[in-house]
Amino acid sequence: MTGPRVIRNLALIGFMGTGKSSVGRAVADCLHFTFLDTDHVIEARAGKTIKDIFAQDGEPVFRDWEARIVEEITHRSKTVISTGGGLPTREANLASLKSHALVVCLWASPEGIYERVRDHSHRPLLDDADPLAKIRDLLAVREAFYRQADVLVNTEMRSIREVAMQVLHHFHMAQTAHA
Ligand code: S3P
Repeated sequence: MTGPRVIRNLALIGFMGTGKSSVGRAVADCLHFTFLDTDHVIEARAGKTIKDIFAQDGEPVFRDWEARIVEEITHRSKTVISTGGGLPTREANLASLKSHALVVCLWASPEGIYERVRDHSHRPLLDDADPLAKIRDLLAVREAFYRQADVLVNTEMRSIREVAMQVLHHFHMAQTAHA
């Protein structure tokens, strides 16, 4: 038998461009929690951008960084954790997050995602001749992982604030349920 679920933190997972960082900051403000972005922690530790990590060291090295950071944050409390879009594709990462956080996935369609990321160039995986096709392919592979979140929140046609309110609602419900 497993013990009661511990929910000290809130983790946001989801595809690139679904608003994890913006929503995460807004939610952290409301809860008076610390905001932590795994991508930022990795860049600070590695001393280079994610783009450079991918280009110079390769994606597997980046994924190892993610796994390391996920393990390091298990002791945290009162933290909103925003994760890189590919982080939940390692099962152990998701299991680790669930050991201390409510895991909320922000969802959007490939077209919606494309509209949000098309003017940005810092994401190496979308540096592709046909970014929309790449988004569709990656999302198809990742959907099964994203669906393992505790809660799925649709972000289409909703402002950052509206999505943040939904996330907060789920967090409060989960905390009450597991108190
Ligand atoms: C990635 C998403 C990025 C970043 C890296 C890889 C992915 O984070 O971790 O470029 O595999 O989906 P965001 O989801 O914050 O853009």
